[in-house]
Amino acid sequence: MRILRSLLSVITIAVAASGQDVDAASTSQRPPRPEPIDVVELPLPPVAPSRAEGACTPLINPRRTGCIGIETLSFQAGDFTPDGNHVIVNVEFVGAPAAPNPASIYAGEQLILIKADGTTFPNGDPWKCLSCGVPPDQARSLDPERDYPHVFRSGKKALWGHNILDCGGVDLASDGCTANRTHIYPIHWPITVDGSGRGGVPRELRLHPDDVHMGWSSFTANGGQFCYFGRLQFNANPTVGEPLAPRYDLVNVSLLDARDEKLRAPIAAEGGELRVNRAAITVGELRGFSGAGDEILYIGAPWEANNIDVLAVHVVTGAVRRLTSHPDYTDPVAFSPDNKWFVAMDTRVSQRQMWMSGMRWLPPLVDIVAVTAASSTRNNHERRFFQPILIDRYGDRGDYFGQQVNAGGDGSNGSANDPNWNGRADPAFSHDGTKIVYWQALVVPPACGGANPLPCPVSTAEGGRTYRVMLARLTSRKPGKPVKVFDVPDYIPWATPFPPGSTLPESPYSLLPGNYTIRGRVSGDADVVLGEDPVIAGRIGSVSVTYQNYSDERGYVVNGHEQVSVEIKLPDVWNNLVHWYSDIVQTGVVRATKKTSPGGFHLEIHAVTNVFQANGTLTTTINGVEYKQPANGT
Ligand SMILES: *[C@@H]1O[C@H](CO)[C@@H](O)[C@H](O)[C@H]1NC(C)=O
Ligand SMILES: *[C@@H]1O[C@H](CO)[C@@H](O)[C@H](O)[C@H]1NC(C)=O
Ligand SMILES: *[C@@H]1O[C@H](CO)[C@@H](O)[C@H](O)[C@H]1NC(C)=O
Ligand SMILES: *[C@@H]1O[C@H](CO)[C@@H](O)[C@H](O)[C@H]1NC(C)=O
Ligand SMILES: *[C@@H]1O[C@H](CO)[C@@H](O)[C@H](O)[C@H]1NC(C)=O
Ligand SMILES: *[C@@H]1O[C@H](CO)[C@@H](O)[C@H](O)[C@H]1NC(C)=O
Repeated sequence: MRILRSLLSVITIAVAASGQDVDAASTSQRPPRPEPIDVVELPLPPVAPSRAEGACTPLINPRRTGCIGIETLSFQAGDFTPDGNHVIVNVEFVGAPAAPNPASIYAGEQLILIKADGTTFPNGDPWKCLSCGVPPDQARSLDPERDYPHVFRSGKKALWGHNILDCGGVDLASDGCTANRTHIYPIHWPITVDGSGRGGVPRELRLHPDDVHMGWSSFTANGGQFCYFGRLQFNANPTVGEPLAPRYDLVNVSLLDARDEKLRAPIAAEGGELRVNRAAITVGELRGFSGAGDEILYIGAPWEANNIDVLAVHVVTGAVRRLTSHPDYTDPVAFSPDNKWFVAMDTRVSQRQMWMSGMRWLPPLVDIVAVTAASSTRNNHERRFFQPILIDRYGDRGDYFGQQVNAGGDGSNGSANDPNWNGRADPAFSHDGTKIVYWQALVVPPACGGANPLPCPVSTAEGGRTYRVMLARLTSRKPGKPVKVFDVPDYIPWATPFPPGSTLPESPYSLLPGNYTIRGRVSGDADVVLGEDPVIAGRIGSVSVTYQNYSDERGYVVNGHEQVSVEIKLPDVWNNLVHWYSDIVQTGVVRATKKTSPGGFHLEIHAVTNVFQANGTLTTTINGVEYKQPANGT
C-alpha cells in the first residue's frame, strides 16, 4: 500500500531553480564486477503442527524453549549483532503449555536472536529468546506493534516495533543478557495520543545508525502518508501522556516535507509549461538510512513513468540521489555500515512490472493518476515478487543493475533461487560488510491453488513452515569496518519542524486541470492534457500525453500517444479503476513499443488487497522481447 501524496497533489509554482539532484545514470563510477555469493538457510525454533495449547510438545522441542507456527503471521527477520554471528528476529511462539509450566513463557510475539555461524547457545539451541520471561515490572505498557526488529549499532539494545529492549549495558548476544536483566520500554510520540490523529499513526520505525534518531512513516485516516524524523529521549518518570510508564519519547520531530515550496512538487507548472523537478524531496515512504546515516532512504515520486524507485536525500543539504532506476519495482532497502553498498528488495528478477514500466525514459506524467496502480500491481495478494539485489552505493546506472544475491541454485522447489520463495522486508548487512541476511515467504493460497493457475508448492522448510531466513556470504570480501556515523543536527534544515501541537499541511498543492506542454531534457516536446475528475472536484482524473520526438535521455526518442484516467471507487480510497490507452514508439539505441489492445486496457486494482483484474491488454516490447501483463488473479 503506498500513496505518493506529493505526486497525487502537485503544486503549481514557479519552476524550481534551486536544489540539486544526481541521477545515478550520469555518474561515471565504473560498475563493480559480479562477485561470488554463497547462500544458506539459518535455523529457527522448531515448528508446532498447530497453535493449540500444548502443541509444542517435549517431543518437538525437548529443551522446552518454544515452537513457532507454520504460517508467516507476524514473523519478521531483522539485522545482525555487531559480531555478525547473530540475527534478530520477531517470531510468534505457538502451542505453549499453560502456566505454571516454565515453557509457558514461550508464547506470542517474541524477540529472539538466531545463530548465523552454525554454533549454538550454551543450552544447545541455535536461538535464544530476548523478551521471554522478562519480569512484568520491567516491561510495562508495551506497544503491541512488534515489527521491523533491529539491533542497535552498540549491540546492547534492540528496536522491537514501537518498543526498545535494553539488556542493561551488556551485549544482547552475550550469556550475561538474561530476562531478569532486560527492560523493554514503549516508544511514545505525543502527537499521536492527543486523540486528533494529527500526525497519523506511526508505522515502520527505522533507527538511525547513531542509535539515537529515528525515522518513520504514518498514514492518516483519509489515506495521506507522511514521514518524520526525530530523536529518542528516555523518560524514566513521565507525568503526561500515555503510557505513564518508563518510556522513550520522540522529541525534536521534523516532518520530512521540504520547507521550500520549490522543493516539494515533483512536477511543477509555469504558465502552460510542465517541468519534472528531480531536485524535489518527495519522501513518500521512509525506508531507512545510508550506512553513515547522512542520507534518508525513501520511496519517492518516480523519475520515469510507472517506475517506482528508492531515492536518498541528504539529511543536511537536501541533495537528492536516485539509487535504483531499473524499470521494475523496488521497496525495502538496506545499506552496508561501510556505506559502500546496499541491498534492495526488487521485482526485477521476476520482471513483474515490465509490461507497464519497461520503456525507459518516459517522463512520469501518467503517474499523476496511475502511481497507485503502478505500485499495486507488483503484488498478488500477500505474494511479493521481490528478490534481494546487491548494488554499489552509486546505484543502478547504464547497463549496471546490480547482482541478484540469491542467483545461485537450480530453481528447484526450496532452492535459494526458487521463485516461489519471495523476499520480504528488511534485508541487512553485517557490520563487516561480508554477509547479508534476508527473509522470504513461500507463495500460499489464494496467490496459488484453487482458481489460481499456479499450483501451491509444498514447503521444503522445517516443519512445512512458509517462511525462512537466508544468509548470503560474500565470500571474496575481506572484513571491513563501519564508517564514522554522521552527526545529525537537532532539526533537519530543509524539513518542517513538527513540535507537539503541530498540524499537518492541508495539501495546499494542486496542479490545475488544463493543457500544457513539456520539453524533453534532450530534445522534442509533448502536449499534455490534465483532465479534471468528473466526480471529485479539483482532482486530476486523467492525463493525456502526445509525444513529438521527445527525449529525456540521449539515444531514447519517443513518439506517440498515451492516455490514462483513474476513477477512485469511493468511499474506498484504495480502490482504483484505471482506463489506459497507449500507442508509443521509441527509437534510437532501442526499438520499443508500449501498446494497448483495441478498446484499451481496463484495470481494477485495490491498493491493499492487490488482486489484478483487467480487460484488454497493455504490452511493452523492447528489441523484440514482449512483456505481457499478469493474468487476472495472478
Ligand atoms: C537472573 O537469571 C539468571 C538465569 O536465569 C540466573 O542465573 C540469575 O541468578 C538471575 N539473577 C537474579 C539477580 O535473579
Ligand atoms: C530538542 O528537544 C529537547 C527536549 O525536548 C529540547 O529541550 C530542545 O530545545 C529541542 N531542540 C530544539 C532545537 O528545539
Ligand atoms: C514443486 O512445486 C510445484 C508448485 O509450484 C509443484 O507443482 C511440484 O509438484 C513441486 N515439485 C516437486 C518435485 O515437489
Ligand atoms: C485542451 O486540449 C484538448 C485536446 O487537445 C482540447 O479539446 C481542448 O479544447 C483544449 N482546451 C483548452 C482550454 O485549450
Ligand atoms: C521528428 O524527427 C524526424 C526525424 O528527424 C523528422 O523527420 C520529423 O519531422 C520530426 N517530427 C517533428 C514533429 O518534429
Ligand atoms: C471487464 O469486463 C467485465 C464484463 O464486461 C466487467 O464486468 C468488468 O467490470 C470489466 N472490468 C474492468 C476492470 O474493466
